[in-house]
Amino acid sequence: MILLDGKKLSEKIKVQLLEQSRQLKNENGRSPHLAAVLVGENPASVAYVNNKIRSCRQCEIGSALIKLEDTISEKELLEEIDRLNADENTDGILVQLPLPPHINPDVIASAIHPEKDVDGFHPLNAGKLSFGLPCFEPATPKGIMLMLEHYNISLSGKHAVVIGRSNIVGRPMSIMLSAASANATVTLCHSRTSNLEEFTRQADILIAALGKPGFVKAGMIKRGTVVIDVGITRIEDPTRKNGYRLTGDVDFDNVAPLCSAITPVPGGVGPMTIIGLLSNTLRAAEVK
Ligand code: GUN
Repeated sequence: MILLDGKKLSEKIKVQLLEQSRQLKNENGRSPHLAAVLVGENPASVAYVNNKIRSCRQCEIGSALIKLEDTISEKELLEEIDRLNADENTDGILVQLPLPPHINPDVIASAIHPEKDVDGFHPLNAGKLSFGLPCFEPATPKGIMLMLEHYNISLSGKHAVVIGRSNIVGRPMSIMLSAASANATVTLCHSRTSNLEEFTRQADILIAALGKPGFVKAGMIKRGTVVIDVGITRIEDPTRKNGYRLTGDVDFDNVAPLCSAITPVPGGVGPMTIIGLLSNTLRAAEVK
């Protein structure tokens, strides 16, 4: 069984991204720049955004963290996005999800200029993705594709089963795996799928992105499967200094012995998501 080490791979790719970032600075007269918008203080979101900012710094990508109160209105948030859209020193914009319930994430995604949409959530980029046209690909599926490529895991003709149909991971993942550049045969399962195990047991590659800790059990997969665990849920754990531990969607201890390869949580998909974002930010800086 191969452990797909996203942490190690991401450190290696960051060296290349640093080079690209320096080159863009030479060409553009300034470093690439990302604006990260955080609404409220959801502890997981705070941790993710801080991690993104730290990674920007490592690659000499400029960044601004824009912290807004969770009482901000949708209109005020749209005004902030308009300001960033108009700012010629901002190449990429991300609004960390989830947003408070009174703000519609689809409205926000549609407001970000498509050429600054480094999350790839704007409908124009989502449409281009589904047509196989050049676009910003959502960071998590992009990072997963890079990881599969790095570990020489072939996809052509393989049966990839995705659990979860979110716009952030499952849906774009299914599109990217079935694209002509990958050629997998894809089954997209979700909360209303009947007899889920029937599908997961057929998977050559199983992507678990449903956000239910330990959901994928050993009895749900066949021997030799590649398992990609996108889940990252905080579970209370008084034995830890910070009071919680991060748990994936896969029952790792029992599933791992059956797999040909599997991602750990943490240290698997998470660091690769950041690579997807940084690489999109450099691409956004290239557009001009
Ligand atoms: N929340 C969970 N994943 C993501 C992501 O990839 N981008 C943003 N903006 N928010 C998220």
